Amino acid sequence: MESGSKAPIRAGGTAKRLEGIGEYYFSQKLREIDDLNKQGKNIINLGIGSPDLPPHPDVIKVLQEESAKPNVHAYQSYKGSPVLRQAFAQWYQKYYGVSLNPDTEILPLIGSKEGIMHICMTYLNEGDEALVPNPGYPTYRSAVKLAGGVCVDYELKEENNYFPDLEALEKSDLSRVKLMWVNYPQMPTGQLPTRELFEQLVAFGKKHNILICHDNPYSFILNNHPMSLLSVEGARGVAVELNSLSKSQNMAGWRVGVLCGAKERIDEVLRFKSNMDSGMFLPVQLAAAKALSLGNDWYESINKIYKERRSKVYELLDVLQCSYSGDQAGMFMWAKIPDTYKDGYELSDKVLYDSNVFITPGGIFGSAGNNYIRISLCGSVEKFEEAIRRVKSGIEESLSI
Ligand SMILES: Cc1ncc(COP(=O)(O)O)c(C=O)c1O
Repeated sequence: MESGSKAPIRAGGTAKRLEGIGEYYFSQKLREIDDLNKQGKNIINLGIGSPDLPPHPDVIKVLQEESAKPNVHAYQSYKGSPVLRQAFAQWYQKYYGVSLNPDTEILPLIGSKEGIMHICMTYLNEGDEALVPNPGYPTYRSAVKLAGGVCVDYELKEENNYFPDLEALEKSDLSRVKLMWVNYPQMPTGQLPTRELFEQLVAFGKKHNILICHDNPYSFILNNHPMSLLSVEGARGVAVELNSLSKSQNMAGWRVGVLCGAKERIDEVLRFKSNMDSGMFLPVQLAAAKALSLGNDWYESINKIYKERRSKVYELLDVLQCSYSGDQAGMFMWAKIPDTYKDGYELSDKVLYDSNVFITPGGIFGSAGNNYIRISLCGSVEKFEEAIRRVKSGIEESLSI
């Protein structure tokens, strides 16, 4: 009998739904970077947006104290702890001016990434269409496909402030479109929303009976005016919003996110989600509630650090002769590559192999990102200074060949 990985899988291998779904880009690339590190290369990774700073010490303290208690280790409610739901409601009220019912309009998630999948699985039938931003977070695309849906790209152009061209979309056939994924501050472009854009999106959803799914994990990073799509009048009838503690509270590995919206939407998504997981560790939920109660000084303190880093990234981008807007929010810098490169992949590979620095090629976020790169702000100033030194000497060496 054959054993282990060699065992045949019956009836043609993996499920059809995995067709066209590759391994997540970063999962592959991190393996390559690991291999290079094993060869002694000591790669500086400026790719992935995983905060390198710790959460607030009071948050850690709550986790420690709560997890030492004997009665917190059981399965938890599928709807999350009331303490956490209340904390999300107060956070939305305080920072976004949005009043949400903690019992019915808030669903804590194990990270917002899973929420993207839950939403697609809840609403998309085979062949239903979903509008996805190009460039945009790759998970929208894969979640739509895994759920059996069909992605319809909408291009975000620099000259249009990376806003969707809703007029052009209205001229296309929207009859099969059920969902639209939107995300502002936008990743990867760093584009901030305007109130007018949010109003237009809500009106568009209403007019065409499309559920607008807003993904909002970056609103506190390098942005003094966090905005929620749910603050637009009537939004709850046509939109839901995902949020996350990964970036704004430095808690990416803790896996805490939230879905906010009308009671009906929350109940619908819960029908799917409650079949997928069995709640979140209670001490994590209580510590997350603490994180949500932090004052403005917390956001000021992390943003001060991101600003210092950003000025270093400007320097690095200047060395690479890239062009960029100085008005970006979120934990990345998006920049256009010089014409001397075929695309962002070429620049990324060159910098990786010549200088041992990894920068994300913009093309992984969709074809409209091909002539761009994205640099993460998740590294110390010293790390950026070292990256600048390496890239400068890599360029000098290649010029002298
Ligand atoms: C636009 C966007 N949405 C969602 C996520 C997922 O965040 P979470 O850690 O809450 O799952 C990310 C993470 O990189 C992101 O960039």
